[in-house]
Amino acid sequence: MTDSGLVLNNCSQVLTMAGDGLGIVEQGAVRIRDGRIAEVADHALTVAGETEIDCCGNVVIPGFIDPHTHLVFGGWRQNEFEMRLAGRTYREIAEAGGGILSTVIHTRLATADELYNRALERLHEMVNWGTTTVEVKSGYGLDTVTELRMLRVARRLGELKLCRVVPTFLGAHSVPKRTAKADYIERLENEMIPAVAAAGLARFCDVFCEEFVFNAAESTRILEAGKRHSLVPTIHADEIEASGGAEVAARVGAASASHLLQPSDAGLEAMAQAGVVAVLLPGTCFFLGAAHKSPVAKMRELGILMALATDFNPGSCPMLAQPLTAQFGSIYYGMTIIEALRGVTVNAARALKLDSEVGTLEPGKAADIVVTDVPDYRHIAYRLGHNPAWVTIYGGRVVHRQY
Ligand code: NIG
Ligand code: FE
Repeated sequence: MTDSGLVLNNCSQVLTMAGDGLGIVEQGAVRIRDGRIAEVADHALTVAGETEIDCCGNVVIPGFIDPHTHLVFGGWRQNEFEMRLAGRTYREIAEAGGGILSTVIHTRLATADELYNRALERLHEMVNWGTTTVEVKSGYGLDTVTELRMLRVARRLGELKLCRVVPTFLGAHSVPKRTAKADYIERLENEMIPAVAAAGLARFCDVFCEEFVFNAAESTRILEAGKRHSLVPTIHADEIEASGGAEVAARVGAASASHLLQPSDAGLEAMAQAGVVAVLLPGTCFFLGAAHKSPVAKMRELGILMALATDFNPGSCPMLAQPLTAQFGSIYYGMTIIEALRGVTVNAARALKLDSEVGTLEPGKAADIVVTDVPDYRHIAYRLGHNPAWVTIYGGRVVHRQY
C-alpha cells in the first residue's frame, strides 16, 4: 500500500465502538491517512489519490485486540491433552511435573531464533484472524536469562509491524524446580523485575495467583515490586480455585484481572470500585472443561468492564483466533453480542491501557481495522468457527487479505 492512504467504501456497517454500544454507522465509509483514521462517514467517500477498497457490503470493525496470550514458548503439550482426555486434571498434571514446568524445559533449551520463528508462525495465524494488537507474556523461563530472551523475542515480533505487541513480564508464573518459593520471590523482586524494567522490555507485570502457586499475599508483594519499577500490575486470578485474586487486583490497582472463574463477591465489588477490567478467557474454560464459568451476569450488574482474550498457550488453550473468543463469549459465557464485540475491541484496549490509541474507529486513532466478509455484525458472534477477517489493516497498511 502507498502512503497516500486508503478509503474503505461500501461498508454495510462501520462498527466504530464509540459510546457504549457498537457505534454503528450504516452504509458507512472510512478514510485512512498516515496510518490513522481521518474520517468515518455515512456515505461513500470520494477517492483523491488513495487506494480504494470496496468492502462489498460487509461489516468493518476495529482490529481485534487480544489482551492475554502466552505466544512465545518452546514445544507443545499434546501428551498432556491426551492425559486430560483420560481423566487427569490440569492441576494433577502440573503437580506431577507437567504443565508450565514442562514448557519451561523446552523454552530454556530453545534459542532466541527458534522461539522467534515458532512465535512468528503463530502471530501470522493471529493476524489472519484479524488480530492487530496482542499482549504477549513471558513466564516459561523462570530465570533471568530465559525471561529476558522471551521478552526480546516479543519485541522483535512487534518490530515487524504486522501487529502491535504489548509485552508482559510473568516471571511469577510458577516456582522453578529445585528452588524454594521464598527464594524465588526474592529473586523476582531483587533481580528479575529490575532487569526487565531496566531493559525496557515489559509494560505489565503479571502473577499466577492461586493458593498452590503464589497466594494472595505473595502475589501482592510481587506486583508491588513491579510497580516500584513502573510495571503496571495485572493478574491471573481465581481460576483453579477462589484465592482472593480479585481482591489483590483491586488492592494493587491492577489494569486488569484475568480468568476469574471463581471470584468472591467481595472481590468483584472491589474490582468494580477500583475500575479493574475483567479479562475473560472462555476458550480456556471450555478447553479445560472447567466446572465454573466466569459470573458474567454479576460482573454486568456491578458495571465491571469485560474484555475477552484467547489466553493462547500450549497447556490450557491452544487457540489463536480472537473471533472464536467472541463466539465463545456469547455462546458459552452468555455475553450479549455487543458485550462480546466490545470485549475483543474497545474493552480489550482498556485492559491494556491503550484506549487512547486503538479499539475504536474514531478520527485520530490508529488505523487498525478488519474488513469482514459478513453483512451484519451479529454474524461475527453467531457463525461459530467462521473467520470473518477478510482484510486485516494494521497502522493503515494491509497486512493480510483472504482470497
Ligand atoms: O493462563 N494459568 C496459568 N497460565 C496459563 C496456562 C499456561 C500453561 O498451562 O502453560 C493460563 O491458562
Ligand atoms: Fe494465561
